[in-house]
Amino acid sequence: MKQIELTPKFSLSQIVYGVWRWDENKQSLKDISHILDTCLSLGIDSFDHADLYNDYGNELFFGKLLKGNNALRSQIKLISKCGIQLLSQKKPLTKVKHYDYSREHIRYSVENSLRHLNTDFLDVLLLHRPSPLLNPEEVAETLSDLVKSGKVRHIGVSNFTPQQFQLLQSRLDIPLITNQIELNLNHPFPLTDGSIDFLYKEKIKPMIWSPLGGGSIFNETGNALIRNKLQVLADKYQVGADVLCLAWLLKHPAQLIPVIGTNQVERIKAAVKSTSLALELQDWFSLYEAALGNEVP
Ligand SMILES: NC(=O)c1ccc[n+]([C@@H]2O[C@H](COP(=O)([O-])OP(=O)(O)OC[C@H]3O[C@@H](n4cnc5c(N)ncnc54)[C@H](OP(=O)(O)O)[C@@H]3O)[C@@H](O)[C@H]2O)c1
Repeated sequence: MKQIELTPKFSLSQIVYGVWRWDENKQSLKDISHILDTCLSLGIDSFDHADLYNDYGNELFFGKLLKGNNALRSQIKLISKCGIQLLSQKKPLTKVKHYDYSREHIRYSVENSLRHLNTDFLDVLLLHRPSPLLNPEEVAETLSDLVKSGKVRHIGVSNFTPQQFQLLQSRLDIPLITNQIELNLNHPFPLTDGSIDFLYKEKIKPMIWSPLGGGSIFNETGNALIRNKLQVLADKYQVGADVLCLAWLLKHPAQLIPVIGTNQVERIKAAVKSTSLALELQDWFSLYEAALGNEVP
């Protein structure tokens, strides 16, 4: 699998694996080790985390694989996020779900991520969601210090509008290297609301979360038009609907980086087929039409 350059010296695999859906109560260390090995064997070397995944548990879970294994650490890229404060028994001081981008909290969160993951550095730290109270000067200084200290190699954001991205970037001397946003056939709006256009103009590669709509594209609650069209194309290209959804994203010239979240190794293997599947132009538009619910104007 090819690597996508986010800076001249830093790249992520064309598909990233996200651990949001891991659950230590349902999966063993052997299960997640198998997922990790499968990813690596396919060239997926970039793993997406957040402090809060699975009630603040998944960095610790993943960290068990990294403990004492410097060789493994050197083969992978670790992305993590901070800022969302969930209600959790592990966070007794949190009385209401909120966002915290104070200097203290960002530093505290990064230290936790490093300790939990058993690593000295994060390859990328993302601010998980924009906050109305985010102070760009304070955040810029904090992020710059973290990069200077070596604890974080690169910084970025997630779910930021172009304006929010520009505001924070305007206070930074170092680049925000990505914006991780939702985009899939159930949620095609970033293609037209300026989100992708802005990143493309700035030559920033977007990371795409829930590229399969979290699986909702495939079930009865989803849009039947999309499901039917996927079925037609699955027959034509002889691949699964999940592969088509990823190929639909990968055809975009802005070099989108899907973050997949399946727990099934066979589906991870299938996902890789999307990187070599060239969807024909009109097939791309037939899916887009189904996503929009009408033909393009
Ligand atoms: N930045 C953010 O705000 C944000 C928000 C959400 C997620 N994320 C990141 O994005 C990653 C991916 O999100 P996601 O898990 O929602 O991605 P996704 O790949 O869109 O969805 C994965 C879900 O779809 C199911 N699925 C996959 N293929 C399927 C198929 N062919 N038929 C039926 N179901 C299928 C999977 O079930 P199986 O496991 O059974 O295959 C899994 O439950 C997360 O792990 C996280 O790292 C970031």
